[in-house]
Amino acid sequence: MNRKEFTERVLELKEKKNAVILAHYYVDGLIQDVADFVGDSLELARKAKEAEGEIIVFCGVYFMAETAKILNPDRKVLIPYYKAGCLMADMAIAEELKEFREKNPDYAVVTYVNSSADVKALSDICCTSANAVKIIEGLEAEKILFVPDRNLGSFVAEKVKGKKVELWSGYCPVHEKLNPEQARRVKEENPDAVFVVHPECRKEVRDMADFIGSTSQIVRFVKETSAKKVIVGTERGTIHQLRKLRPDVEFIPAYPEFTCDQMKMITPERLIKALEREQFEVFVPEEVAAGARKAIERMLERS
Ligand code: 13P
Ligand code: SF4
Repeated sequence: MNRKEFTERVLELKEKKNAVILAHYYVDGLIQDVADFVGDSLELARKAKEAEGEIIVFCGVYFMAETAKILNPDRKVLIPYYKAGCLMADMAIAEELKEFREKNPDYAVVTYVNSSADVKALSDICCTSANAVKIIEGLEAEKILFVPDRNLGSFVAEKVKGKKVELWSGYCPVHEKLNPEQARRVKEENPDAVFVVHPECRKEVRDMADFIGSTSQIVRFVKETSAKKVIVGTERGTIHQLRKLRPDVEFIPAYPEFTCDQMKMITPERLIKALEREQFEVFVPEEVAAGARKAIERMLERS
């Protein structure tokens, strides 16, 4: 199926099913182009709440579709491939978090949305990479456990004054793979480029960057930059939007295969099947969803 046929088929099915398509910046460019909305995880959580349509088709990894379902318990939420999970989200286990809470009742638990509904339900509040600093600064608690990303957590801990931030030991293997040697190399090869990175990158890499931000913050930064070359320290799918916004700028992935294979499981063929067959429906048991919803809504109120 070529681009035109794909686009026509998706639009036809979308209308027939009264569906809305939300897509993360990391999915295939073809899918981004047919989506009703493309964004980072914070924007997508907001959109999931506002979006019209009987069916929400979430083109992203499982925790994102799960968040959409938690915020829309009465709507049908589909993910084109149920195995597309976030590797970092799998590094936080609810039982272990429960144990920490029991042993450390004086800690507030702040959980990155890249986490399962079970883990969110055990948390005081959620955050995304776009609002983590603001969320933690706004908490009364002085002791914070940040779950699950140690890299985003250390980025936040550097910014927030007067709080003790304990880090869970999770990380994103895709961002972690960008090591300082590679970052140095790509910068040396492109001395006239600005270097932008996602806070999921390691501290040594963040320290070499000209700008650190969530995917949508990177998009906004690039929109305004006067640079003609940008080294992109996040998943390659983001470059699809960056090129559309700034065709005059050259974009260089910080390492050649900067790709989240989980996000790439959401293929154009699977999106068509998802719409045709209304698969794969996301379910979250209400006893878990209720707790997770509180943590997500607290975040949305404060960001
Ligand atoms: P954003 O919060 O920038 O959307 O990032 C989500 C993510 O999974 C990054 O790897
Ligand atoms: Fe998860 Fe990393 Fe993929 Fe983002 S890039 S969805 S954090 S595995």
